Amino acid sequence: MDKIIIRGGNRLVGRVPISGAKNAALTLLPCALLTDEALTLRNLPRLADVDGFGHLLNGLGVSTTVEGARGSDFGRVMTLRAERLASTVAPYDMVRKMRASILVLGPLVAREGQATVSLPGGCAIGNRPIDLHLKALEALGAEIEFAAGYVKATAPAGGLVGGRIVFPVVSVGATENALMAASLAKGETVIDNAAREPEIADLARCLVAMGAEIDGIGTERLVIQGKPRLHGADYQVMADRIEAGSYACAAAITGGEIDLIGARPDDMTAILAGLRDAGVTVDVHDHGIRIAAEGPLQALTVSTAPFPAFPTDMQAQFMAMLTLAQGASVLTETIFENRYMHVPELGRMGADIQVRGRTAVVRGVDGLIGAEVMATDLRASMSLVLAGLAAKGETVVHRVYHLDRGYERLEEKLSAVGADIERASEG
Ligand code: EPZ
Repeated sequence: MDKIIIRGGNRLVGRVPISGAKNAALTLLPCALLTDEALTLRNLPRLADVDGFGHLLNGLGVSTTVEGARGSDFGRVMTLRAERLASTVAPYDMVRKMRASILVLGPLVAREGQATVSLPGGCAIGNRPIDLHLKALEALGAEIEFAAGYVKATAPAGGLVGGRIVFPVVSVGATENALMAASLAKGETVIDNAAREPEIADLARCLVAMGAEIDGIGTERLVIQGKPRLHGADYQVMADRIEAGSYACAAAITGGEIDLIGARPDDMTAILAGLRDAGVTVDVHDHGIRIAAEGPLQALTVSTAPFPAFPTDMQAQFMAMLTLAQGASVLTETIFENRYMHVPELGRMGADIQVRGRTAVVRGVDGLIGAEVMATDLRASMSLVLAGLAAKGETVVHRVYHLDRGYERLEEKLSAVGADIERASEG
């Protein structure tokens, strides 16, 4: 296992190239199951979860070839081909390591008529049920069975049939499973209260490039005319809005100036509005977004909610930034029930944060002190790195494998803008 050592206090100034989006990549990869032709994905981030998903697909019989990024380029090109599937089972050992494995369920049952996926179980930030995924597949005619920690979905003899899906709760993953399955179902599917996260639109555009027929992309009502088959495609993964927002917070918390190269402002409206309200300068230009902290940070009141509202995946990073703001900020986490595990660790660095249920009150302090801290989940880990960048003295973040799931070459990107940061082995 590795740790990251940060000596804080440097203003971060420079350019950070934004990588392909983890949460787009993890729903584009299973699209390869929907066709027997080659699917080429470009700008894939070099992340543990992307590699893990590739291995999961290999286990199902999908061949994958990767062209590595040359030199300092970021992003990889992966070509996937599911000519004939060897299995329709996603095993416990794979799924337990990566919840997003559940996203093979819809494509497999659509392509092969059945799929057996280990129940993903909860994770650090919450229970993470999959009932909405299963109800969506049932609406397309699938039969759902449970046995020994697995869920099995079986399509009718003639394959899935288009239907009406109305999500009672907005769910990114369930919308993704439903969209992929409906692309091969017979007839029309209407998905109401669909998630509108940009990663869903990226998935829909990839499916259209593969021959799917989808209306309402980017809205909460998706209408899909199922096709008998889809063909291969060559598709570029969108830029990672959460990575971009995380580095924006790095500029803000260090009083620096970072140019987020490749960031897409339309994907980040609530994040950028929050930064501006916090007193941070945000300039959109042709190649990305320039973030500059030219004055003291102002306190905020922020509630997480589905897109286009403020994303839950940015809550921990904003909290870190707001520990140094003038005044008291109020953060409310409405999506996950346990997404404040960074709070005690930030407290050990001198932050003043009180949590009551889903709400955290963050009172700005004059400064943070470096400390040894423990990462617990992906975005919490990033909040600890951000705090370390601003803290006086040395911060050691343990269990950084959490970070490697979502941030490509983090130390390299931060060092390039002036951070004093290094990775070391725990050994
Ligand atoms: C996706 O998770 C993202 N992961 C998460 O990012 C992100 O936080 C989340 O969407 C919300 O934006 C990927 O895309 C791989 P949901 P997902 O289904 O799809 C409840 C990160 O840090 N729910 O939108 O699992 C659920 O409990 C990760 O990059 C059900 O009740 O999230 C939650 O309260 C963390 N039943 C709410 O819906 C279901 O069947 C939203 O979850 C599914 C979800």
